[in-house]
Amino acid sequence: RGTQCINQKGHLTIGGVDTVDLAKKYGTPLFVYDTALIREKAEAFKKAFETYPHIKWQVAYASKAFSSVAMVQLIHQLDLSLDVVSGGELFTAVKAGFPAERIHFHGNNKTEEELIFALDEQIGMIIVDNFYEIQLLEKLCMERGRTIDILLRLTPGIEAHTHDYIMTGQEDSKFGFNLGDHSIDEAIQLTSASNYLKLNGLHCHIGSQIFETDGFELAIKRIYQYIENWSEKYDFEPRVLNVGGGFGIKYSKDDQPIPLKRYIDVIVNTITNESEAKGCAIPEIWVEPGRAIVGEAGTTLYSIGAYKDIPNVKKYLAVDGGMTDNLRPSLYQAKYDAVVANRANEELEETVTVAGKCCESGDILIQDAQLSKSVSGDILAVFCTGAYGYSMANHYNRLPKPAVVFVEEGDAQLTMRRETYEDLVRQDIMLQEIAKAGY
Ligand code: LLP
Repeated sequence: RGTQCINQKGHLTIGGVDTVDLAKKYGTPLFVYDTALIREKAEAFKKAFETYPHIKWQVAYASKAFSSVAMVQLIHQLDLSLDVVSGGELFTAVKAGFPAERIHFHGNNKTEEELIFALDEQIGMIIVDNFYEIQLLEKLCMERGRTIDILLRLTPGIEAHTHDYIMTGQEDSKFGFNLGDHSIDEAIQLTSASNYLKLNGLHCHIGSQIFETDGFELAIKRIYQYIENWSEKYDFEPRVLNVGGGFGIKYSKDDQPIPLKRYIDVIVNTITNESEAKGCAIPEIWVEPGRAIVGEAGTTLYSIGAYKDIPNVKKYLAVDGGMTDNLRPSLYQAKYDAVVANRANEELEETVTVAGKCCESGDILIQDAQLSKSVSGDILAVFCTGAYGYSMANHYNRLPKPAVVFVEEGDAQLTMRRETYEDLVRQDIMLQEIAKAGY
């Protein structure tokens, strides 16, 4: 995957850097990002769109997948746009010097404070999710005597997951305005008449880890069923159609992703055909991949510690992280592959269950991993942890968050420091009486 190789010592290398050296230098658990692979994925999206010179497009990286100042800077270098879903992600983007006009702000319950922050930063687009937000944003713009560009998020009644999609007439989702019950019509009516909210178009996101193109095609077709009606009634035609993210990646050997270009081809062709059929201009097409940009580029290095062999049942191997740095196995039963990084060319002799170190029986990273025979002190590399790993990391059991390094062409750069115990208690406040006693 990406620049992964095995060197003469039999060690796993990423970006030309020995992972065992990385573990030694920066400690474990450690997130290692193969930035060449991130570039490659970004280029694949751009190239896919560039085959349609008449189409205007934007690829926005969904920073919820992994956000840090360095990551956002890399996205800037790659000339993508950026999605943020909170004041914290927006703050990270601002700190990284990301151009405000290419920041899109999502979320189903943006606070007044967050919206003010977004307005003050003059960000390019707010994806408005609900009637409360329409009112709030309108009030904030009125007070400031200014306008803001918006998209309306709609829920198209199509939910796509991996190989399946579910069509639901009346969608049960906390996100967006439903198509089925005409809340989207009301939202279009309200915002297209607003002096403060400039309705640019529509947004939908149909799910995650999608391996088929049908869900996108259906969602687009469903939206276009209403286009003439909106145009007649509210004089509204979308200038932008954002079809979200969700492009599937290869977490483990069981996953069979399709080339990124295939999604883009289907999205572009469906929108083009539908626009022609309905006699409207082809809108700008926006997508928002998160995991497809960073997922495969991330590898987590752990140190192997304890073993527990239960004869005739299973063998556990415990690592120095777990559900604190990768919540996905316990939250979604997500599957991962791993290799013993310092024995990368040895035979796979053992079937072991890789456990984390948290006080929770469900803290299992990999069930039945096929690994070479290892000993305590070896380094385990778990692949494809670049998306929703660090970004969903937590402090359960007061474990400090890992460090993050970017590697490329033989160089490693630390981009997030490992948290210290001091970091963990930084926000703690002493019990008053003890503080007073000067203890
Ligand atoms: N756009 C919108 C509006 C989204 O809600 C999401 C993800 C994305 C884009 C990016 O989706 P991606 O391309 O990364 O699949 N924590 C879960 C994923 C939650 C995704 C939420 N929305 C996980 O670890 O799988």
